[in-house]
Parts: sequence; structure tokens; C-alpha cells
Amino acid sequence: MRRGRPPRVCGGGRGGYFRGRHPNFFIVGLPDAAVQEARERVRSAIRNSGCEFPVRRITVSLAPADLKKEGPAYDLPIAVAILKATGQLSPVEDKSVYLGELALDGSVRHTRGILPMVALARDRGFSPIYVPSIDAREGALVQGAEVLPVDTLGGLVAHLRGEASIKPFRAEDMAAASEDGAVMGPDLSDVKGQEHAKRAVEVAASGGHNLVMTGPPGSGKTLLARTLPSILPTMTTEEALEVTKIYSIAGMLPPDQPLARQRPFRSPHYTVSHVALVGGGKIPRPGEVTLAHRGVLFLDELPEFTHIALETLRQPLEDHAVTISRAQGNVTFPCSFMMVAAMNPCPCGFYSDPKRHCTCAPSLVSRYQKRISGPLLDRMDMFVEVPPLEYEKLMDKSDGEDSAAVRRRVEAAREAQRRRFKGTLIASNSEMGPAEVWEWCQVEEGAQALLQTAMKQLNLSARAFHRVLKLSRTIADLAGSERIGVAHLAEALQYRPKWVE
Ligand SMILES: Nc1ncnc2c1ncn2[C@@H]1O[C@H](COP(=O)(O)OP(=O)(O)O)[C@@H](O)[C@H]1O
Ligand SMILES: [Mg+2]
Repeated sequence: MRRGRPPRVCGGGRGGYFRGRHPNFFIVGLPDAAVQEARERVRSAIRNSGCEFPVRRITVSLAPADLKKEGPAYDLPIAVAILKATGQLSPVEDKSVYLGELALDGSVRHTRGILPMVALARDRGFSPIYVPSIDAREGALVQGAEVLPVDTLGGLVAHLRGEASIKPFRAEDMAAASEDGAVMGPDLSDVKGQEHAKRAVEVAASGGHNLVMTGPPGSGKTLLARTLPSILPTMTTEEALEVTKIYSIAGMLPPDQPLARQRPFRSPHYTVSHVALVGGGKIPRPGEVTLAHRGVLFLDELPEFTHIALETLRQPLEDHAVTISRAQGNVTFPCSFMMVAAMNPCPCGFYSDPKRHCTCAPSLVSRYQKRISGPLLDRMDMFVEVPPLEYEKLMDKSDGEDSAAVRRRVEAAREAQRRRFKGTLIASNSEMGPAEVWEWCQVEEGAQALLQTAMKQLNLSARAFHRVLKLSRTIADLAGSERIGVAHLAEALQYRPKWVE
């Protein structure tokens, strides 16, 4: 940084102490604090890049003036605009876009949200798009965008003056780097016994159904939920891009892994606020439901979540999108996720345990279960009990099926769904609306009677009825069957809750 510059008076004759020391530099157009601070970064970066920072009054207008501007991505464009306005760069208008935060020394730093910004710029016909080098891989995921990686403001100036040349980032450069990483979490073969629950997890993963597991502490509920990443199908390219955009906006993409490959697995603690869960804030940020898009939202110890947190989940579960309204407009984030919840049956945890004594008063047990409201439970597709594990099962040396084998079946079932819903926005059976249920979930003649009896005896709501049919569809898909037979329907009915209705 240059120091010791002699004070210069600028503007009118009434320059006070500060006006005398610093020329004025304003940013207008509803900048937030980070954009305001761009003034300091830009000033310093320009001086440290061998350019002149003009000693006069500067006003940067970010249009449109009524839309709030947030974050440091405006640093680089402001610097380029100042250099153009002062003749240090050719002031020719072109269709270039500049994005990135500046460090004081003039280097260009990692900036959030590069992928969606590059996608928008390409859609609006802008090219080339200058982005921080570190984020170039991310930007290059946008098909057909000419992405130029910028290391420093000085480097960019040299390029724009024709003294040096920045080469476009080629998507092929990163083919090798974006291979699948190792799957996190335990393998299904680590879970002993619990065959019924394992099957439920497989069915849920196959159709994207919501699952609730109940059982005493230590029976393996959390363990089972954590095996999901290892059996979920790989994402399609479109799904991977959707997820990458979300993580880019949230600033959660690791720079060395530009494209999200693994389905998200989000497991917020039960103290999470409802805003953190569904998203919000003055400048809206995606919440856990959106971070779980195309993956799993795991709520461990479900009844411990606050009432308001659980109630706010109802709408995103139904609509697969959350809209956050703000004075400046609405933001809609996608949230197609599969919800998996685990809970003890009562506060002490041993209510359903045949061998241990539950010490809770009956009224306490029912109050505990009622913490989860009927409307939320009505949005769950599958309920499974995870009983305490017997010693013999725990010590059983024989290996159960591993995740890779289960995943192959899940992939096959998903493939059937992809064919079924080709050309629609539906990704899995769980996302079917009433029209699709009607079209795809007709049960075989032989299963009609069972359906009728179940509907009456279990006193199913219309929503629950549709859920049973969608679940049967998935079970039939797992069996490779076009038609929904008695066995498929009967298994789906098994997953209705036994303790609340
Ligand atoms: N079915 C199981 N097979 C192997 N280990 C198990 C099983 N169930 C529980 N465990 C062991 O007990 C620990 C606690 O299980 P956890 O899933 O946290 O129980 P829960 O969530 O039902 O209270 C696990 O980390 C694992 O070491
Ligand atoms: Mg647990």
C-alpha cells in the first residue's frame, strides 16, 4: 500500500479534514456493508496493481437502485469500471462480465455463487465471463459459457490492454478431478440384524419416501439412517448441477470439488431454529431443507425439535419448494428431499422394549408422541420399529448384504421411475401428484379388496391413501413388476404407523 500521500483538497472549497485527506468515493444503489467496504478493497487493489486510483469524487451507481446488493462479488467490476472511466483501460463497451472479491494486494479471491451467476450471464448473452481463478472450475460447469480465470487485478489489466493473455478455462481440464469421491458414512453391512428396518431403508431410498424410525436407545436408528448415502442412487447431471448451485450460493462448495457428486445428507441438531431449517434472513439464504435438496434431511430425536420448527416443515415437504418473502421481492429455493426421522417411543426410551421397564407415566408417553402433530405425521410415508438388538444378532459374524449390492437394486428401481416420468419434473415415485397416482398406481384386480379393507380399517386420510399407493408403486418397482400386486400393497400397508392412528 502506498502511504504518506500528501493531503489534497478536492471538490468545493468547504473540504473538511476528511475531504482534504481522501477524495470522495460513494457507492449508491442499496449496497450492504460488504459492498460498501468494496471502496477500501478496490482503492487498495488498484494502487497495488500498478494503476492510479483517481483523486477526485467518484460515484458508483449499482442499478437498479431499489434492489439490495450483497456481498463482495462487485469488487472486480467496480475496479474495472473505475479504470475504464479514468482512461486506464479502453472504455469500449462490450459484453464481458466481471465477478470476484478483491484482496487489498490486488489478488482475486474465492467468491460465493459463481455457478448461478455464470449461468445467468450466459443466459443473458454475456461473454466472456471473468471469474476468480479458484472458482473457474465451478463456473465452467455451465455449458457453453466462456469462463476466463483471473488471478489478480494486475493480470486482468494486462490482459485487457493486450499485454498478456488469459486463456479460457476448459471444462476438459477438470474431467479427471471430478471423479466420484469415497462415500461417507457407514456401510449397510455394518448394521447387524434389523432386517425389517434395513428393508424399509432400501424401499425409502428407492422411491424417495419419508421414513420414521422408532425404537429404544442404542438399537441402531442413527446408524441405519447414516447408511443412506451409501445406498442412494448417483445423481443425474441435472440433479448434480441443481445441488451445486445451492451449495455455491451458500458458499459451501469445496474449491477442489466443483461439482457436487454425492446426494446431500443433512442432519441438523434439534436445537436448530426454524429459520435455519427452511431458510430466511434479511438477504435470504437457503435453509437445511434446501441444502438437503435431492438428498436426505435426517432429523434425529424428532420430538426434541421445537414445535415451530416441525410445523414449518409441513409446507416444504408438500410443495418441494420454499418461498421467502421480503420487501424487495420473493426468493424461491427448491427443496425436494427425503425426510428421515428417528425417535424414541417415550422420554425414557424403553416404552416398546419387551425386556426393559419403561418408567414414564402413560400420560407422559402420549404427550411425548403428540409433540409431533398429526399433519406432520400425515406427510410421512413409512413407519418402522427398530427393536432392541439381541446379543446373538450383535455377535453374528456372518456378513449381511453390503451397501453396493443394495444400491444396485435401488438404482434399478430408480431407472424404472426415470423412464416413467421422462419429460416431467417428477424425479421419484414420492413426488407423484394425484393425477400421476391415478395413472401409474392402479392396483391389480386381486389387490382391490385388500385396498378397500385397509382404507376402512386403518381409517386412512385421502393423503395417507395416496401415500400407500405411491409406496406400493416403489415396492413393485423394486420387484421389477409393472403391476402392483397384493404382495406389494401388503408390504406398503405394513409401514403404516401402529402407535398413532
Ligand atoms: N444393529 C446394529 N448393528 C451393529 N451395531 C449397532 C447396531 N445397533 C446399534 N449398534 C451400535 O450401537 C451404537 C449406537 O447406535 P445408534 O444408531 O446411535 O442407536 P440409536 O440411534 O437407536 O439410539 C452404534 O454406533 C453401533 O456401534
Ligand atoms: Mg440415535
